[in-house]
Amino acid sequence: MFKKQILLSARLGSCQALNPFRANAVSRFYASGKAVALTADTYSDKVQRDSKYKKLDEKDLLFFRDILKDGNYMISNEQDLEFYNEDWMRKYKGQSQLVLKPKTTEQVSEIMKYCNAQKLAVVPQGGNTGLVGGSIPVFDEIILSLSNMNKIRSFDSVSGILKCDAGVILENADNFLAENGYIFPLDLGAKGSCHVGGVCATNAGGLRLLRYGSLHGTVLGLEAVLPDGTIYSSIDALRKDNTGYDFKQLLIGSEGTLGVITGVSILCPSRPTSTNVAFLAVSSYETVQKVFVGARKELSEILSAFEFMDGKSQLLTGRYLKADHPIESGDYPFYVLIETSGSNRDHDMEKLETFLANAMEEGLVDDGIIAQDEAQSQSLWSWRESIPEASAHDGGVYKYDVSIPLKDLYGLVEAAETKLNEANLVDIDSNDKPVVGAIGYGHLGDGNLHLNVCVREYNKNIEKTLEPFVYEWIQEKQGSISAEHGLGFQKKNYIGYSKSDVEIKLIKDIKNHYDPNGILNPYKYV
Ligand code: FAD
Ligand code: MLT
Ligand code: ZN
Repeated sequence: MFKKQILLSARLGSCQALNPFRANAVSRFYASGKAVALTADTYSDKVQRDSKYKKLDEKDLLFFRDILKDGNYMISNEQDLEFYNEDWMRKYKGQSQLVLKPKTTEQVSEIMKYCNAQKLAVVPQGGNTGLVGGSIPVFDEIILSLSNMNKIRSFDSVSGILKCDAGVILENADNFLAENGYIFPLDLGAKGSCHVGGVCATNAGGLRLLRYGSLHGTVLGLEAVLPDGTIYSSIDALRKDNTGYDFKQLLIGSEGTLGVITGVSILCPSRPTSTNVAFLAVSSYETVQKVFVGARKELSEILSAFEFMDGKSQLLTGRYLKADHPIESGDYPFYVLIETSGSNRDHDMEKLETFLANAMEEGLVDDGIIAQDEAQSQSLWSWRESIPEASAHDGGVYKYDVSIPLKDLYGLVEAAETKLNEANLVDIDSNDKPVVGAIGYGHLGDGNLHLNVCVREYNKNIEKTLEPFVYEWIQEKQGSISAEHGLGFQKKNYIGYSKSDVEIKLIKDIKNHYDPNGILNPYKYV
């Protein structure tokens, strides 16, 4: 176990030795050898093409070319279409023959008006980093990519309000804000690829929700095009505005089923000038919870992230990064990453060290390190942010992103592991079995677990072993089957495990009201 003196003088050799992997644009083709199967084939039992949708023809292409003015804003050759048709996990693949990349809200409006009249189905797409198969078509839907709408519109350095196009990449928005002393109130491992509009459409949670809250609170206004082409805008909304229904809240988390978000106004906090990151080894899940209670109490206003990871997630991350673990003294069952953010380094460091000293004294922490500079902090974060890629590296990953009351949270990983072992599907080392292992990690501070079942191939036997078993388990514990990733295609038949019949009816009523032809992101959860 480390001592307080060691902590204070911080021997961080292992931290420096970390592979400085940085998830800029999130890499995708980790299992490039295998072709991705068509969703329509893999899930032919769940979904059939609806003949009410028109098939694209030459007349439509001429219309779109006329609207977009430039042939470069349309993609229709097979090789280039692949990126837009396949999801990040390489689990789902659509068959779209056309990607449209408008540059203005008016162009989006013209496109939607036409598609609605013609009954052409459309899938809005941001950075295509979504993890539930929501961002790609199932059949031949047109893909409407927002990537050409990538301008910062304005920034008010007094209020901290940023207004930008939906297609601005999250990391670019944050870099812009950094230059002005502000921070985007959301951060996630896909920041180098995902869009500001995409994170609003999914209501992404990420690594610092604990500190900055959900986008339902920080997004002040949206501009969006409704399925019939109507342009809705609350982008000039004020911080306080109680005039009637707040329509933008319906769009946040609607996953491209209600409107195409084209612009975002968001309230950004001042950028912390002092951040500290500690990585700790902990001997049980019960103890992880105790460390969390202590961190909240003792670090209070400076606590900005509390992430937990199980031992197996670390083993796979180390294999993937070909690097030693940040904590070299042994293998521990659980690890915790704690971040503090504030404005006074000495004050914050003193608080963190006192907290850690107390945690050690109480026997809650077995070993740990504190980053001594920005580079080391980034290395520790990048280790944590590499878990998703490490999970998929052997061939694929079945993902379950859940909220469950904290005391039961990790029980899901154990239950899934038992179930997979009973089915004789698992071997962490041998290629003879299709499952590498079930791992757990996530945003413990938000009660959000990621159960990843890491596999060598996607196969129905694994899926049937896990579903609906996992969803039933979550329902029994009064949890949510989607904490932050959404429902998309993956959970289209499972919404009933977390929402009542009344809630589902209200969702369908809203969808039918605004999209009576059902052209926007069909075959997904609504
Ligand atoms: P896409 O993947 O393109 O689309 C996602 C959904 O939103 C689709 O249904 C699509 O139709 C819709 N959509 C996209 N743009 C628009 C638009 N402009 N208007 C209307 N609908 C739109 N998620 C988290 O919540 N927390 C995390 O910590 C997190 N970490 C991740 C780490 C990695 C490495 C990866 C690959 C993903 C991670 N994700 C995380 C998931 C993903 O990044 C988020 O869901 C993100 O918000 C998706 O944004 P995107 O721009 O890539 O959207
Ligand atoms: C994360 O917390 O790393 C993200 O939600 C992505 C993932 O779990 O794959
Ligand atoms: Zn997450």
